[in-house]
Amino acid sequence: MHPTIILVGPMGAGKSTSGRFLARTLGLTFIDSDKVIEERTGASIPLIFELEGEAGFRQRERAVIDELTRLPGIVLATGGGAILAPENREVMRSRGKVVYLHASVEHQLERTAHDRHRPLLQTPDRRGRLEELMRIREPIYRQTAHLVVETDGLGPRRVVQRIIRGLGLKRR
Ligand code: S3P
Repeated sequence: MHPTIILVGPMGAGKSTSGRFLARTLGLTFIDSDKVIEERTGASIPLIFELEGEAGFRQRERAVIDELTRLPGIVLATGGGAILAPENREVMRSRGKVVYLHASVEHQLERTAHDRHRPLLQTPDRRGRLEELMRIREPIYRQTAHLVVETDGLGPRRVVQRIIRGLGLKRR
């Protein structure tokens, strides 16, 4: 049985795309914590931010991450800010292998160019926002991760190869 693999990293690093591909390659189930929050509440992430603020969203995120990290052998993609809460970092590291998908702000900008679904990017200065978030979060991503994978210029297939090699996993 493979360990649970938890993908962390900024918006636009390809956590969902690579995560889905990784799960298929290993024969595991893919789960996206943001999607679970949306299904449970029946509300989109932007609406949750609007009604409950970021604090309300983070509270829901903590509950869902605590629950999902208990599932055996899944690939879990988390939202870009999931590593902010110490309790999330603790359960992610102790219950699975945490992989940080690193992407430069340049690549994040490209990959999120047409996005209307991320409340934190609904600002005229997206570059400034992404740089600010990276300044704060980069050290936390690195501290939390068992493995760091550079994704700039790589498609999901190569990202997945690096994760499998880096964690010493076997394909199904
Ligand atoms: C967030 C990232 C989003 C989502 C929410 C907040 C963040 O997830 O959880 O909009 O704080 O960086 P993705 O990283 O999947 O876009």
